[in-house]
Amino acid sequence: MMKLVGLSGSLRRGSFNTALLRAAGELLPAGVELSVHTIWGIPLYDADVEAAEGIPLAVAGLKEAIAAADGLLLATPEYNNSLPGAFKNAIDWLSRPQADIKRVFGGKPVAILGATPGGFGTILSQDAWLPVLRYLGTNPWFAGRLLVSHAGEVFDTSGAITDDKVREPLKRFVHGFVEFVGASTSRKPAGLGQ
Ligand SMILES: Cc1cc2nc3c(=O)[nH]c(=O)nc-3n(C[C@H](O)[C@H](O)[C@H](O)COP(=O)(O)O)c2cc1C
Repeated sequence: MMKLVGLSGSLRRGSFNTALLRAAGELLPAGVELSVHTIWGIPLYDADVEAAEGIPLAVAGLKEAIAAADGLLLATPEYNNSLPGAFKNAIDWLSRPQADIKRVFGGKPVAILGATPGGFGTILSQDAWLPVLRYLGTNPWFAGRLLVSHAGEVFDTSGAITDDKVREPLKRFVHGFVEFVGASTSRKPAGLGQ
């Protein structure tokens, strides 16, 4: 079984980015599971708290989930033409202590996707993540791109995708990433190449 973790960079209950990850979970090939997480409950990074108390529980659980995953999907909102501070804060906590970066992120296949009510599909936010992914030593997947614009017209009130023009590209994106993860790790989902 291939295990993927999806992390949504939004705190919003009705988040389009969380909905996008949930929808991705419905479109996976056989032999792949996706557990969807959000950044909810992660405090602001504070080095004094880290020194006194260590890594907060919410961070520690997520860290282990990412470390154990074969691949990571980051669904990013775009704020002010860049990545959201709250999402970066979560990744900053997840990168602590520095000695753990290699175990948690090193060589990890990562794909970025995003949704926005705006017209440019989070393209600037997705690009803003690249230096972070490089610094963490991840193995980013560049062959696919998923930019969901006008998200208010793409999801219904339950968060389900109502637009085939998004569902199909999402399916292609997820399947492409799964193939990449399979080629990058020894674990292959059932039904994909040997
Ligand atoms: C402070 C702020 C800045 C924003 N800047 C952008 C932006 O630069 N580009 C964009 O497409 N949407 C922008 N938005 C709109 C977000 O894309 C929108 O709030 C979206 O729903 C957030 O993702 P979520 O639904 O997953 O919470 C901004 C929203 C906020 C609150």
